Parts: sequence; structure tokens; C-alpha cells
Amino acid sequence: MEKTDLMDKIISLCKRRGFIFPGSEIYGGLRGTWDYGPLGSEMKYNLKQAWWKTMVLERENVFGANAAIMMNPKVWEASGHTAAFSDPLVECKLCHERFRADQEDILAEHEGEHQKRKEKAEWTEPKKFNLLVEARLGVVEGEKSVVYLRGEITQGVHVNFKNVLDSMHPKIPFSIAQIGKAFRNEITPGNFTYRSREFEQMELQTYVRPDEREAMTVFETLKNARMEWYVALGMDKSKLRFREHAPDERAHYARAACDVEYETPFGWRECEGIHHRGDWDLSRHTQFSGQDLSYFDQDTKERFIPWVIETSGGVDRAVLFFLLDAYREEGERIILKLHPSLAPYKVAVFPLLKNKPELVMKARELYLNLRKKFAAAWDERGNIGKRYYAQDEIGTPFCVTIDFQTLEDNTVTIRDRDTMKQERIAVGEIKDYLNKQLGIGC
Ligand code: GAP
Repeated sequence: MEKTDLMDKIISLCKRRGFIFPGSEIYGGLRGTWDYGPLGSEMKYNLKQAWWKTMVLERENVFGANAAIMMNPKVWEASGHTAAFSDPLVECKLCHERFRADQEDILAEHEGEHQKRKEKAEWTEPKKFNLLVEARLGVVEGEKSVVYLRGEITQGVHVNFKNVLDSMHPKIPFSIAQIGKAFRNEITPGNFTYRSREFEQMELQTYVRPDEREAMTVFETLKNARMEWYVALGMDKSKLRFREHAPDERAHYARAACDVEYETPFGWRECEGIHHRGDWDLSRHTQFSGQDLSYFDQDTKERFIPWVIETSGGVDRAVLFFLLDAYREEGERIILKLHPSLAPYKVAVFPLLKNKPELVMKARELYLNLRKKFAAAWDERGNIGKRYYAQDEIGTPFCVTIDFQTLEDNTVTIRDRDTMKQERIAVGEIKDYLNKQLGIGC
């Protein structure tokens, strides 16, 4: 399969099967925004659950947070985003289209378009373009004040550092986890959901003692933990790699940075960034808010501003990369070989024939019962082969068919998405079978 084909196929599958739609589509769309449909929202929810389980529930000293999207504008002054959160922008002097100056392949493509028309594209000098998205808040027209939709979810955690200290009394090192929306006025959104203007992040901010060795140990541990997470959820290991940032490409807050990258059809791209933020956030918020954001270590009797090691992943990027990674074609069959934890449905239930009430009744009884424990789909349309294929295409790991034999001996056929193998098992054994095969508590 051609690499560009794969991207087109995923975009088409997402639309056709209810995973992801263009934002505000009936009004011609809104560039850089995407809406998750019935199956996409299930998959996204599953992905966030999987992250929360690994990064919060299974670890000690990790606390959750869910901060407001709109924040006092001073937050963004303190964090450095109003001054430094920008990309270099250039404008084509011929058609006035704007691009990121550092995306050479896109600039070359644009120059090529002009060349075809025997024109020579010329660019303006790069200028800094701030990525924060503004909103106006207030009830009196003319007196509304500017607020920013958060450009990273991170600051909602750091401004609550003292609240978490005072309410939970954590011992350093400890972490605060958050999943939520972020907004960026991206100059060139593109590659489907890869670069959007509204997207979700999943982040762990770890507070450590101000000690380089300790900080780098946490940095390395988090790097490996994040890589393992993608692999444990079935992503092809050979398509994952680390990429350390050179000092001149690091964000304004980072003292060290490393990305987890995935090999997409459009090249190696960042899924997630691990950053050593030093004392940047807490020192700046101390300075700008006038509040004491230091930590007192009861054991050593020292007071200090903790350093921060963060891991920040994109939920939408992870969904896209897992979809790309899971896509297979076998003859006419299209399969999403998604890890069961991520699959929108874990099992589908079919009556063999739609017009036999005794089969439909028995199948519905089983379906309603299974739904209490597993995300389950119902399908009674068309022939059974087509129904299997339709479930393969959305990644459902198992399909259960109720046929005439079920009415006699209370057994069903259960079919495996990946092997297409069918087994006959008793209705009473289905839940245990699925629990064992899926290997998840879903
Ligand atoms: N708090 C650090 C931070 O925000 P970042 O590298 O700018 O770091 C972290 O973003 C992650 O958020 C990225 O690795 C990516 O997965 C996701 N992300 C960033 N910009 C995005 C965009 N425009 N569209 C989709 N995801 C994006």
C-alpha cells in the first residue's frame, strides 16, 4: 500500500464508519477542528482511560486535576506564552497565503504550485506569530476583557501546586496528572487531526527536588514508561523511536527535551514530548502572583522551589497513530487490529436471521446482558459474512452469532477478528471467554 494511500484510507474510514468528521462540516467546516463521532469518541475515551490507568491509578503519589480552560491572562504572562509561544510565519508575496517558515517541505510544495503557472514565489521575511487563541469574556459590550484559551494544559496544574500541597500533603517526588483540551492558532494545521487548532493533551507533571541527577533519573524513567505504554497497547515497536531535542529547538521552558516519535505515512512525527522544565513554572508563578510556591521537605528541613519533569502527549495524535498502525487489508477484508482496550466495541452480537423472532429474541437477551460488562454492538442487517467484515473494519475483537443450534443446546459461535477462527461455546461461558481473551477489565 502506498503511504499516502494509507492516510486517505484512514480519513475515509473515519468518516464512513463514524470515527472522526470535519468540524462544523455542514457549514463548510472550520479549519483545524475535528469532531469525534460515535465510534471515535468511544475510542478516544478508551485511550484516555488506558492512559489514566497506567499513569495515575497504577502509580503511587500521582494526583488528578481538572482545571479551567479559561485562565487569568497573567498566567500566560508568567508562563512566558504571551512573549515566547510563537512560530515563525512567512507570507507568499504572490497570493498572500501564510505558512510556517520552518516547514520547508510545505514551502517547496507551494513554490511548485506557482512554478506550474510559470510564476516565481517570493516570501516575506519571517516574523513571530503568537499561537495563543484569544476569547473575550464579560457581560458589558465594549468592556469585555481578553482571556486566552489555554495553549497547554500544564499551567492549570502549576497554578494549583499550593492547593494540592495544602490539601493532599504529598511527599516529593510526586506528580499531578491531567487530561484536557488545549488550543493553538496553528499557522498550518494539517495531516488530518495531527496538527489541529483545538486538541486534547494528556500530561503528567512530576515535581522533584532541585537536583540535576534526580531530575534526569525521573526524565529517563518517564521516557521509557511512555514508550512502553504505546508498545503495550499494540503499537509496532519498529515504528517508534526517541528523538532528543537540540538546545536551539527546545521550547522556552525546557532544559532538556525528548520526543516519542511514530513513523507516519508523512514521516517521523512527535506523539509526545518529555520535558525537563526546571524551576521555570513555579519560580515564574511565584514572581508574578506574589504567592509562596516553595516546598518544605520535612525530612531534610530544606525549603526549595521544586523542579518539574513533564510528559505531554496528544490524545488526538495517539488516536490517529493507533488507527494508522492498526489498519490492514486482507483481500476484500479491511481490519483495524486495535488493541482490545482501545477498540470501540469489544464484542458484536448477531441473530443469524433477522426475520426469525426466536433468534432475534435470544440474541437481544444475550446482547443486553453482555452490554452490562462489555461495550457491545448489535447488528442484524445483511448476511453474516458482511456483518463480520463490517465489525472487522471498526476493530471489534469478537462477534457472537445466535443460530438455530443455540435454541437447541444454548451454544453460540464466537469469531475472532484477527484469526477469523470460529468456536462453539456455551452461552454461560461467553463472559469468562471474553474476559480471558480480551485480557482487560472492560
Ligand atoms: N506542556 C508541554 C506541551 O504542551 P508540546 O510539545 O507543545 O508540549 C505536547 O505539546 C503534545 O501535544 C505534543 O506531543 C502533541 O502530541 C500534542 N500537540 C501539540 N500541538 C498539537 C496540535 N496542534 N494538534 C494536535 N496535537 C498537538
